[in-house]
Amino acid sequence: MSIGILGSGGLGSNLARALARNGIAATVANSRGAASLAALVAELGPSITAGTVVEAASADIVFVALRWTDTETVLSRLPAWNNRIVVDGTNPVEFLDPNSPAANDPANPLAAYGIKAVDLGGRASSSLIRALVPGARVVKAFNHLDVNALPQPQLSGGQRVLFYSGDDAAAKAEIRALIEAMRFFPVDLGALDTGGPLAELPFGPLAAINFVKV
Ligand SMILES: NC(=O)c1ccc[n+]([C@@H]2O[C@H](COP(=O)([O-])OP(=O)(O)OC[C@H]3O[C@@H](n4cnc5c(N)ncnc54)[C@H](OP(=O)(O)O)[C@@H]3O)[C@@H](O)[C@H]2O)c1
Repeated sequence: MSIGILGSGGLGSNLARALARNGIAATVANSRGAASLAALVAELGPSITAGTVVEAASADIVFVALRWTDTETVLSRLPAWNNRIVVDGTNPVEFLDPNSPAANDPANPLAAYGIKAVDLGGRASSSLIRALVPGARVVKAFNHLDVNALPQPQLSGGQRVLFYSGDDAAAKAEIRALIEAMRFFPVDLGALDTGGPLAELPFGPLAAINFVKV
């Protein structure tokens, strides 16, 4: 079972870190090419390799660790999915230029965090991601906590909870096993359009809450 990670920023690098700590191999890619990942690969050791976007996107399990606003551009150019698994780690937020009017808009409740919610017209974000990866089995996971939590699955004498949701039972079982291999406690939130919005930032009721299984 191969793993690819699209994006090497906050989410992608910490996913790679969390996998590496458990000796799980993955290929990471970003927009600047493999050479830009030399420091990350050197830090994380031999289980993590740098690759092209197409190489990472050709894995059995492909993590989407891209900003929401980049998903359509990147995902629309990839090889056929052929029933492979896509783990959607995105949230529908836009990162703001601190000098832009939106960053200081009093009507934006997230301005202090440098982000604003993307208006999806009432649709679940994962249903939009699902439409961008036709033929893939989508599991939403790894998106509801600050990324700095990912290399630290143990907390207060227990295991940090990671939520996941999806429509394909076999794909969910694989991601559940991966979450367990990374030493988190997996909690199934049901179908993609039910569980996804529950744990999604910025406004999902379970988003950004640290649950610990003791
Ligand atoms: N930050 C958090 O705490 C957090 C928590 C949970 C979920 N999330 C979600 O995770 C996602 C990523 O957030 P982030 O904080 O990791 O963002 P980020 O630090 O800006 O990283 C985005 C990554 O996407 C890559 N990218 C952009 N365009 C690309 C392209 N055309 N081809 C390949 N790679 C491309 C960037 O490549 P370069 O490095 O080359 O620029 C970068 O590595 C977002 O949807 C966010 O909502 C974030």
